[in-house]
Amino acid sequence: MNYRHGFHAGNFADVLKHAVLARILQHLDAKPTPYRVIDTHAGVGRYDLDSEEALRTHEWKDGVARLDRSPLSAAAEAVLEPYRAALAAIRSEYGPSAYPGSPWLCRHAMRPFDRLIAAELHPPTYRKLAEVLARDGRCKALAIDGWTALRANIPPKERRGVVLIDPPFEEKDEFATLTEQFIAAHRKWPTGIYMLWYPIKDRTAVETMADGVREAGIGRLLRLEIDVDRPEAAGGLGATGLLIANPPWKLAEEAETLLPALTERLAQGQKPRYLCEQIRPDG
Ligand SMILES: C[S@@+](CC[C@H](N)C(=O)[O-])C[C@H]1O[C@@H](n2cnc3c(N)ncnc32)[C@H](O)[C@@H]1O
Repeated sequence: MNYRHGFHAGNFADVLKHAVLARILQHLDAKPTPYRVIDTHAGVGRYDLDSEEALRTHEWKDGVARLDRSPLSAAAEAVLEPYRAALAAIRSEYGPSAYPGSPWLCRHAMRPFDRLIAAELHPPTYRKLAEVLARDGRCKALAIDGWTALRANIPPKERRGVVLIDPPFEEKDEFATLTEQFIAAHRKWPTGIYMLWYPIKDRTAVETMADGVREAGIGRLLRLEIDVDRPEAAGGLGATGLLIANPPWKLAEEAETLLPALTERLAQGQKPRYLCEQIRPDG
């Protein structure tokens, strides 16, 4: 467990993941019944873009900092609104270099009767997460393996909610684990919303995952990807994706509005690309 999200907080991949997560939460908020969020790989919850880790990579400069330059189109801004609102809220509370991790975004969106379970296995990261979520009776931080937390907490008693699966991708077989764990969780709770984050370095691994979930008969899947065309010499991550099961009504349409504008804003080369695709089950 060497991965520390502090090096990557607020980068282009976080912007996509957190903008879409904030949108999903807003859809959940639109109905009066309670929901639960299960964040299987939670991180520290709140980041400081002025920290030594963040300043070592400066990844946020080609991520969230680009959104600060100027608004996107009015239509894209309408989709981005809950993410912008969360950024404004955390900055007003903790200063301009604060950045919300997924647990903080969830906490910000949740109503008094909604609940969050956030699992984080790395002990120092867990301790910071527990501090960030302390004194909020709606939230529970667990120092356990995210896959165990997932199996133990679905279906939640609310029967409504979202599972964020955002592993560190340190292991060679992480795509296979993600696919297996997601298929098993979906069997146990087929109506939950699931959002899986993945890096795109090995396109074969991504296609194998998409084929695996399709073959498992999982319907109602939305696949969103952006490739910022990062110059090879710069190294690091240049493309990322989200696989969303049971996306809220309208999310696909909203993504079609947001992704072109976001991809253009986050581009690092001349040929950035995006993908919004609805995956149908086989057969
Ligand atoms: C990509 S980061 C999470 C970022 C966070 N979801 C966000 O969006 O702000 C992945 C996290 O998973 C943690 N981790 C690694 N293995 C884990 C496991 N088996 N169970 C739970 N957490 C784990 C790492 O310590 C790291 O903090």
